[in-house]
Amino acid sequence: MSSSRRYRLFKVECSSGLAEGLSDWLAQATGQPVVEEVRRGRSVLSVSVDRMDELSRLLLSEGAHSLGGEVLPEEVLADGDWENLWKNQGFQSFKVNGWLSVLPEWETPPTASGPTIRIHPHLAFGTGLHETTGRCLSLLVDHAPFVPRSGAILDFGSGTGILGIAALVLGYGTRLLAVDDDPLAVESTEANLALNGLSGMAHVYDRFDPLFQEISAQKTLFPTILANVTGNVIRHFLPEWYGLLAPGGILILSGVSTRELDRIVSLCPPPVSVFRGRRFHTLLLRRGLS
Ligand SMILES: C[S@@+](CC[C@H](N)C(=O)[O-])C[C@H]1O[C@@H](n2cnc3c(N)ncnc32)[C@H](O)[C@@H]1O
Repeated sequence: MSSSRRYRLFKVECSSGLAEGLSDWLAQATGQPVVEEVRRGRSVLSVSVDRMDELSRLLLSEGAHSLGGEVLPEEVLADGDWENLWKNQGFQSFKVNGWLSVLPEWETPPTASGPTIRIHPHLAFGTGLHETTGRCLSLLVDHAPFVPRSGAILDFGSGTGILGIAALVLGYGTRLLAVDDDPLAVESTEANLALNGLSGMAHVYDRFDPLFQEISAQKTLFPTILANVTGNVIRHFLPEWYGLLAPGGILILSGVSTRELDRIVSLCPPPVSVFRGRRFHTLLLRRGLS
């Protein structure tokens, strides 16, 4: 990824009490990850608006203002400066359930043993700090196979690629098919696969439909499917994902809000386990052996 790239940032300041709601709204409205910095007890939320035209950005300002935010002048930022934003936001190495280490690219790899994945978020969603990603990582560690499995993993909405990369490293499969319709996420997934030496085991797609046609024609079934997206995306694609699940396979769905939870659970064939989070919930489905 070129370090000379520049990004247009929309910034809004608000009290810490409003930050959570405003941040969710900005993420929904832009489809981009929101970075929060706390300065003197106030939150400053930043989000890339490179893909939005002037009218959409104006509507974004109106919306943020009506939700109690103070819209700051737009900023143009170089790629390396995003790295500083992630650092300020607190992205540093952590262990998932005492086992899997997640390490930002800029930190020196530890000499200690145990599986480690390295991530540079660039502009994509997926440091592991967000509760939906964290819950998926935790489930992946808890259900990791004792003997590495063959077959392919599907990571729908890969963002940085963090879940698919973790699944590969934990032995869920020997091949990863990742898909994200955000070109910046595609770049980020590819860069992080390379960073982890896994490019040769993976393909990254920018749309699901052509991939679905291809895998349906080949009758490929997946022992593991991961989808940390939103409730409406889950509702739309659930039948396809479930149909692609191999006997005995697991499907992890995350990013389900409290409002959407009952409806989505009612659409899921049993058995389904629900893991409740603070604001978003995660579901684990299994396909029977027969
Ligand atoms: C919440 S992020 C999850 C990123 C990462 N998998 C993680 O767990 O941190 C959701 C991702 O899904 C992608 N996405 C949303 N709708 C999609 C669709 N219909 N097709 C492909 N990707 C989609 C977004 O661009 C975004 O990168």
